[in-house]
Amino acid sequence: MTEQRGNWTSSAGFILAATGSAIGLGNLWKFPFITWENNGGAFVLVYLVCIAAVGLPIMMAELLIGRKTQQSAVGALKEAVGPAWGLVGLWGVLCGFTLLSYYTVIAGWSLYFFAKTAGWMVGGFPTGTSLGQVFTEQSANGGLQIALSLGFSVATVSVVYFGVQKGIEKIARLFLPVLFVILALLFMVSFAMDGSREALTFIFRPSFNELDGGSVLEALGHAFFTLSLGMGAMITYGSYIARNQSVVKASGIIVLLDTVIALVATVIMFTVIFTAGMQDQVGDTGTVGMLFISLPQLFFAEGIVPGGAVLAPLFYVLVALAALTSTMSLLEVVTSYIIDEHGIERGKATLACGGVVFLFTILAALSFGGADFASNLSAPGRLGDLLFAGKTSWFGMADHFVSNWMLPTGGLAITVAVGWFMTREATESELVDETVPGWFNYNTWRFFIRYISPAAVAAIVVAVLFFGVDFS
Ligand code: TRP
Repeated sequence: MTEQRGNWTSSAGFILAATGSAIGLGNLWKFPFITWENNGGAFVLVYLVCIAAVGLPIMMAELLIGRKTQQSAVGALKEAVGPAWGLVGLWGVLCGFTLLSYYTVIAGWSLYFFAKTAGWMVGGFPTGTSLGQVFTEQSANGGLQIALSLGFSVATVSVVYFGVQKGIEKIARLFLPVLFVILALLFMVSFAMDGSREALTFIFRPSFNELDGGSVLEALGHAFFTLSLGMGAMITYGSYIARNQSVVKASGIIVLLDTVIALVATVIMFTVIFTAGMQDQVGDTGTVGMLFISLPQLFFAEGIVPGGAVLAPLFYVLVALAALTSTMSLLEVVTSYIIDEHGIERGKATLACGGVVFLFTILAALSFGGADFASNLSAPGRLGDLLFAGKTSWFGMADHFVSNWMLPTGGLAITVAVGWFMTREATESELVDETVPGWFNYNTWRFFIRYISPAAVAAIVVAVLFFGVDFS
């Protein structure tokens, strides 16, 4: 490892990049939908507790391992905790690889819907168009799916190719502000709409009789996903933090921004849905439905969203930017492992990793009817059931396995490593320095990372194992 490692140019650059990793399809696609499914209010409250009690401490834990060792996931865990822990890092790299391979497909849809809605903005919305059909047709078109995800993969590789400063940080600095502005604009428009009151009530007024154990675990699982935790992504980004930048403050900002953005996105979407009086139909279109079927339809419906025809393409720009700042972080997890552990130069490593991941992206792209061998799989036997919960497409299986198995087990291993296998001195010296903000208390953090976080994460693993709860 003679090659010089990159560093973030500033604290702000790092925070933007890590926030970009956290804000992604999880915020815009998964969170609104699971909030809907779990009837809002109480679920949102539980989610916020999970973010604060589990997400925030683990965010600090991952970043501190990275900053301390200045190495990517595998090397970092080996050095900070012990040689055997390299396996946990490897598990994370595999998780990043798998997640990236199918995440890119949904990211590709945002390109398609951008083009579609931009076309309708200019040429008018053809009356009688069924958005459900538009969606199904595009997702079942194998060639189109491969082309879209290839486009997105090329964009991701092009960023990571240029490294931490000239690639990742530069793009994050450029795109995150744009993302914030688009979201703020949509948020303001949504406030002028009739349904905003109802949406806010749905999201923020808790009614606990709607809540069951499954919802609690779903909230916890999503806290991992949305903060990019449990797979070493934040270890990797943490490894580029300079020694004089605070881990604690950065963690606070990243977690806060990710949470605010998820809530804002949810308010916007629900406002549109309530204004249109569509609440009965949303559930039928499933997870992808809200983002790619209900919303585009409502943007173009008469008298619902002011300026909807212009905001629609802008909304998909938002989705694409949010996805790109996440895919580049995922690819960085895999690439930096190859660079650090196998001494391969960044350019080559990026192309190789991007290429190999794309082979699996093809399978995911063909999972929606594009090809039978990817859409109709079955994992036989009890083990197959346990691992993939009856999912029948490559995409579905990969998503299920990542959300239900890889992130929780990886997260559990990381909390145990930091809480129980690293000394108090080692973690304290990383977290507490002259830059530490006043609200932080080291002993509280240590209590959470040793007891609360592992117990909560273990609950997910047990739930999945013994009760077959499905988080995806
Ligand atoms: N946080 C991302 C989102 O909400 C998804 C994600 C999970 C991720 N783990 C990651 C992104 C690791 C980058 C790196 O969409």
